[in-house]
Amino acid sequence: MANIVHIKGTGTIGEPLIGLLDDHREAFGIDEITFHKRTPLIDERAKINDLMRRGASLAVDQDRWSEFEELGHAPKFEAREAVNRASVVIDCTPAGNENKEKYYESAEGPLGFLAQGSEFGFGKPYARGINDAALDRDTDRFLQIVSCNTHNISSLVKTLAMDGDGTSHLESGRFLCMRRANDISQDGSFSPSPTVGIHNDPNFGTHHARDSHELFATMGYDLPVWSSVIKLPTQYMHAIWFSLTLDRDITVEEATERLQANTRVALTYKRSANTIFSFGRDHGFFGRILSQTVVAVETLAVRNSNEIIGFCFTPQDGNALLSSLTATLWYLHPDGFEERIDAIRPYLFQEV
Ligand SMILES: NC(=O)c1ccc[n+]([C@@H]2O[C@H](COP(=O)([O-])OP(=O)(O)OC[C@H]3O[C@@H](n4cnc5c(N)ncnc54)[C@H](OP(=O)(O)O)[C@@H]3O)[C@@H](O)[C@H]2O)c1
Repeated sequence: MANIVHIKGTGTIGEPLIGLLDDHREAFGIDEITFHKRTPLIDERAKINDLMRRGASLAVDQDRWSEFEELGHAPKFEAREAVNRASVVIDCTPAGNENKEKYYESAEGPLGFLAQGSEFGFGKPYARGINDAALDRDTDRFLQIVSCNTHNISSLVKTLAMDGDGTSHLESGRFLCMRRANDISQDGSFSPSPTVGIHNDPNFGTHHARDSHELFATMGYDLPVWSSVIKLPTQYMHAIWFSLTLDRDITVEEATERLQANTRVALTYKRSANTIFSFGRDHGFFGRILSQTVVAVETLAVRNSNEIIGFCFTPQDGNALLSSLTATLWYLHPDGFEERIDAIRPYLFQEV
């Protein structure tokens, strides 16, 4: 059986993911990569051509096939056919739950399906390095890769508030997510001034803490976490202010050592989103830092001896890309895949 990975969507997440898989196909043990593009667009022709040049095949809906041909593309598969013949399907659209109902539930071929952050309820929530042990081959055909800020929050909690044996010392975790307005790949939804979000979840504030709670719940935790959100007029990176109150004392030195020991966490002496983003542009995978969080080490402080406070930045597509990749390899290589990830470890920075 050939290992075929199919990606649905070529937006902010889909485009770099197809490229990442294309460029490391052999190392990842993937035989074929296909992707689905919904809308034929002249201004996106170059993107599609380049993804195909790098080795992926195009799938389109039957009723748009001739429009894609008019643009000069040569589609190879019809949308449903591409799903049915795939080993793993990675949905990178804001319509994962809709597609699950429409295409995935009835598709017998694929071993697994992934959807992204917005698709709450698609399947078991997953983030690399947080709940790998909770994945179950018998029951987890559908996984939701949690959002970028959920990766960040969860990574902080696991690193700073939990022991190696899994004991949680968290008494209260609070997070202020300062979101970038839109991605540099997007024209719409820019925010002209700081715009605050509503606490629409009575237990967790916003979906960021709720999703982190759900992620840890897959391992039996019931964590006391709360998040708030404000959107800022920048296109660079999300930033998060965090406060973790523990049931024991902690020092800045211990917190720093714990962060340093986690290979999925980057520390930085930079203090602005633009300098960190720029580092990613020069040293990341096509600009992406694949670490789960970039912690501004000089902002770490301890209050009342048991509350650790600081700021960090969220590599907004990098951490979701890494988890999408590892979940895909988990389906494809049941005997293990850690060494296959070596190909992209250079983009998991420990210092930025
Ligand atoms: N942006 C981020 O930094 C980020 C980070 C982590 C997770 N995520 C998650 O990733 C997912 C996608 O977000 P995004 O930012 O990548 O979105 P995006 O840039 O707006 O791209 C969406 C893509 O999905 C396609 N699409 C939309 N509806 C579709 C449908 N019903 N059927 C087939 N294709 C459809 C669009 O195709 P056409 O343009 O061809 O119509 C486009 O290629 C969301 O769940 C989001 O929460 C995003």
